[in-house]
Order: sequence, then structure tokens, then C-alpha cells
Amino acid sequence: MKKMIALATMAAMVVSMTACGSKAETATTEAPATEAATETAATEAEAATEAPAANGTLVMATNAEFPPYEYREGDKIVGIDADIAQAIADELGMELQIEDMAFDSIIAAVQSGKADFGAAGMTVTEDRLQAVNFTDTYTQASQVIIVKEGSTVATPDDLKGKRVGVQLGTTGDIYAEDIEDVTLDRYNKGFEAVQALLQDKLDAVIIDSEPAKVFVDENEGLKILDESFTDEEYAICMAKDNTDLLDKVNTALASLKESGKLDEIKAKYISAE
Ligand code: ARG
Repeated sequence: MKKMIALATMAAMVVSMTACGSKAETATTEAPATEAATETAATEAEAATEAPAANGTLVMATNAEFPPYEYREGDKIVGIDADIAQAIADELGMELQIEDMAFDSIIAAVQSGKADFGAAGMTVTEDRLQAVNFTDTYTQASQVIIVKEGSTVATPDDLKGKRVGVQLGTTGDIYAEDIEDVTLDRYNKGFEAVQALLQDKLDAVIIDSEPAKVFVDENEGLKILDESFTDEEYAICMAKDNTDLLDKVNTALASLKESGKLDEIKAKYISAE
């Protein structure tokens, strides 16, 4: 029952994401589409769906507010997803270009062809699968609950009637809606939710486990509850009609798993406990 409600909400969200596709803040230029059109003499419409991978550059949509998966180091976007995407591009003999945008714009960017794929610690859900394809999964994850030390919230059940912060459009947001009498505050960045918790504007934050660890390590007085909120898996998303790229990326991912490169990338960003 719980899941069903969340799925219905997700469906509504996917529709609204599709509707505001033009709002995606990608800085993708029109150039690749133009070149593809010239090269293939394709119609404009075809060029739009084929670009930008058509010119040897893979454009990745992400939201670089999610350490250790994607975050900014100076001008550069680094992290597990950035490294995995680079390794995939290398396997395919292509260049990688990363576009940073709001998390809830990623699916629209992929659907509209502004980006070739989305890699953003994105959880595979039934509702997202209606809108995009996902590659094989590359990580197990979970939504966890961050509270202030000394909080009376000790288990997920204690969230009843509480004020909870989430990142807009994430599975934390979707699933937290099912908590009885909850007040949800949605932030553009997960870190903003953590700030609000530190300022006692929230009782808890629901966010993915690895970013939660980073935020709790960086700030005094916070802890992660032992019991997680949900268990999930991450994968890379692609436009439904781009099955050619889906096959290629799955093959590349399999080889990265096989060679140990994937584990190496994860280990670079996540220290063993
Ligand atoms: N795993 C969650 C989801 O898919 C959160 C992902 C947020 N990622 C990000 N780059 N901000 O909804």
C-alpha cells in the first residue's frame, strides 16, 4: 500500500517533469545537433533525438550536489558517477561532457535529447521506468534518516507528525510523503536540508546513505539512525528510444565490473568502514 501511493506520486511527478522539459538548465549548445544534421542530412527532428552522441561526445546530465557521487571541486565536477561516466566514455572511444542541473530536470533533459544519459545517483523506480530506460545497476543504496544528536526521533516510525527535509524530486521526497502527518520541506540541494536541520528548522532529513555520511562527517552534532528508510539501487538513465546507447553502456559497465575498475572508482571516493 505504502509503495503504491509513492508510485502514484512519482507518476504525477514524471508527467510534470516532462511538461516542464524546457526548464532543464542544461548549458548544452545547439552545435552538436547542427553538426549532426549536416553530417547525416537528417531532418531537424531526427537530429534532435540523435544528438549529441552523434558527434562523438556523450553528454551526461547530473546534479552536482551529491557527494561522493557528484560534486564540485573548483570548476570540475568530480565523484563516483563522473568517474564511471568517464570510464564508459573511454570504453566507447568518446568524449564526455557533464551538464549540471536541478535533480528534477535530469529526466526531462534525457527525454528531450539535451543529454545522452543521466548519471546522478539515480534510483531505479517503477515510475521512472515509465519515462526512461535504466542500465544495469551499479550500486546498492538506501535512504537514511539524519537527526541532531539527542533527538527523540530514533526510528522511522518516530517521524510521524514531524517536519522532515528532503531534496526535491528525489526518492527521499517521494517516499517521505507516506509518513503520517508529516510536514515536508523540499530543498533544491540536500545540503540545504542539512543546514536547516542544524538550525532546528527541521526534525530530520531523509537522504541517500553516502551523501548522508559526508554531510554528517562535515558537521558537528548530527547522526544517522541505524534503521534505514528504504533500500534502493542506482543506475544510469537514457531516453526510451536510445536502445543502441543502452546496449553500449551496459556492455561498458559489465567490462568495468569485470575488470575491477568499478570497485576501484568506488573505493577512491568511499573509504572502507
Ligand atoms: N537516489 C535518489 C533518487 O534517485 C537521490 C539522487 C539525488 N542525486 C543527485 N545527484 N542530487 O531520487
